[in-house]
Amino acid sequence: MDLPRVAATCPAKIELEGGKNYAYCTCGLSAKQPFCDGAHKGTEFRPTLFTVPEGKTAYLCQCKKTGNAPYCDGSHKQIPQNPQVAPEIA
Ligand code: FES
Repeated sequence: MDLPRVAATCPAKIELEGGKNYAYCTCGLSAKQPFCDGAHKGTEFRPTLFTVPEGKTAYLCQCKKTGNAPYCDGSHKQIPQNPQVAPEIA
């Protein structure tokens, strides 16, 4: 299995709460995207833990190609829109 898996080819708009602990999925296997549900167990991947000082709207990466995790940096635009039938371009 090639990981990280592309969970979606667009970011998730999330209302983050200030001071709350979040675990961002880095393997792409979580069913609770963009957050970790423990599905990385048995892989080399671990969630990225983060907090924000104040509540804000954020766009969190679901393609797992961002260079600014957990936030979308636009890298998803390089991925075919249906990765199940088209191979990823790294
Ligand atoms: S969703 Fe991954 S960079 Fe935008």
